Amino acid sequence: MSTGPTATPARRRTFADLAAQKAAGDPIAMVTAYDYPSAQIAEAAGVDVVLVGDSGAMTVLGYDSTVPITVDEMLVLTSAVRRGLSTPLLIADLPFGSYEGSDEQAVATAQRFVKTTGCDGVKIERGGTSVQRARAIVAAGIPVMGHIGLTPQTAATIGGYRSQGRTADEAVTLLESARALEEAGCFALVFEAIPTAVTDAIMPRLSVPVIGIGAGPGTDGQVLVFHDLLGIYDGHAARFVKRYAELRGEMIAAVTAYAEDVRSGRYPEEEHGYGMPEAEVTRLHELLGG
Ligand code: KIV
Repeated sequence: MSTGPTATPARRRTFADLAAQKAAGDPIAMVTAYDYPSAQIAEAAGVDVVLVGDSGAMTVLGYDSTVPITVDEMLVLTSAVRRGLSTPLLIADLPFGSYEGSDEQAVATAQRFVKTTGCDGVKIERGGTSVQRARAIVAAGIPVMGHIGLTPQTAATIGGYRSQGRTADEAVTLLESARALEEAGCFALVFEAIPTAVTDAIMPRLSVPVIGIGAGPGTDGQVLVFHDLLGIYDGHAARFVKRYAELRGEMIAAVTAYAEDVRSGRYPEEEHGYGMPEAEVTRLHELLGG
């Protein structure tokens, strides 16, 4: 199967590349992927970072939040993405309940992801106790991406799926979390659903790359969920989603056309079948008794 032309030379990205992009003001493009074909598409598109987000719980596994997805499910998704990817950095979300309990739990889960899937690093959500978990995972030699603002794993405790840091006091707390995660050794941070003015106030106070999703244009890069940007996912789309295609409608139309062709006998046609030498057809009928 041909994958078509690639948009960038196939040089594997490094964490140093992300820091260099930040220093050069060269925006970082990150997208989620959850399987082999979506990874191949991200590869061909030449993005810098691919995240196997626990958003896959909703986009590909059909759960109603990111909370239920298990480590085993995330390992299957991440391994499939690894097989389709060679150039971008591959980061995997540690799912809810797999790292918060203790440093030992966090390190063991992160090691399992790296050993099983070959991912380059892991992402964990929140400040607070996650700062110490990030420090422990980094100390074990595994790169960590932090994630603050709207943290879907704990949406119930932060007032639901709403933007965070909307008061000056909350914004200062976000800055403190960001700086603590940076100090703990995170190689990058995700800012999700944070007012643009807050992002702009925090950015000059950080030195690691920040990837935004609903955090305005002032971050060092952007991330979107694969199914959101392609218009595949049917669920609620957040304010920050920009659709670059409406593939769900096209996919439904294609499968509908196929089903109609099957029902009306228009598919398959002769060109879709396999031939057999005429002599063998004759002999077959003889063998079968005419
Ligand atoms: O799970 C996910 O897709 C994420 C991104 C939105 C950053 O965490």
